[in-house]
Amino acid sequence: MMNNIYCIANQKGGVAKSTSTMNLGAALAVNHNKKVLLIDLDPQSNLSEYLKFEPDGKGTLTNLILEVTSNSVIDSQTVLNTIRYNELNMVYYIPSDINLANAESFMQNTLSRETVLKRILSEEVTSQFDYVFIDCLPSLGILLINAMTASSKMIIPVQTQKFAMDGLQALNVLHSQIRNTINPELKIMGMLPTMVDNTLVSRKVLTTLKETYGELIFESIISKSIEAAKSTESGRALCLSNCKVGSEYAFFAEEFLRKQG
Ligand SMILES: Nc1ncnc2c1ncn2[C@@H]1O[C@H](COP(=O)(O)OP(=O)(O)OP(=O)(O)O)[C@@H](O)[C@H]1O
Ligand SMILES: [Mg+2]
Repeated sequence: MMNNIYCIANQKGGVAKSTSTMNLGAALAVNHNKKVLLIDLDPQSNLSEYLKFEPDGKGTLTNLILEVTSNSVIDSQTVLNTIRYNELNMVYYIPSDINLANAESFMQNTLSRETVLKRILSEEVTSQFDYVFIDCLPSLGILLINAMTASSKMIIPVQTQKFAMDGLQALNVLHSQIRNTINPELKIMGMLPTMVDNTLVSRKVLTTLKETYGELIFESIISKSIEAAKSTESGRALCLSNCKVGSEYAFFAEEFLRKQG
């Protein structure tokens, strides 16, 4: 069960979680014909914006969370009804909106509040997809704990800039706590170095990461590039354009598939 759910997490802001969620998902869909579901678990809704989501009267992740907090269960059809498809990038997704921040405070008083997202991402829903990726918000709160409870693996983007190592320890502690309590299966699949450039700082961080985390560091690295911002602006995944970071995310998707076996 829930063997195909991955959370893209790091409580540090701006490390390329949303960019990596979108571009790993799109590369798997476009280049490998995989059926991919992306979940926007951030009230900032950057992933939804990347996917050019416009409010359409149908429910968002906020509505699903509120339904679980008030009824304690949710039927899979309700969840399936909130799934949209983005044709250009060939990915399915559940959008978020700013009210997710309120939903988070409702969750605080719910019984078994760690498992709300897990109840939304039931087997009936997730078995329709090859892979489900959850784009987490930059905070160590209850929404992140929900993502880590619903997932089988974590992917941690790490920006190879100053203070990159800050917070990784706290995330590792949370990972251990969750493994020891609600989700013993949760593994760290790997850490993805992002925004790599030719500066001394970037090279030093990459070396320290490899020394500290060894095998956990993906071979793939993502360079710093203006193409990333352009991609967010246009809503076109990087793998659809002929650019270096696009090839890097395509390579990362291949490494991801290789490491499934
Ligand atoms: N490889 C890259 N090179 C340069 N800029 C990048 C790269 N990847 C992402 N960015 C830019 O950095 C910013 C942060 O990226 P992104 O939103 O993916 O990070 P995040 O970790 O999801 O942030 P948050 O913690 O706020 O959710 C965005 O403006 C994005 O366009
Ligand atoms: Mg983000």
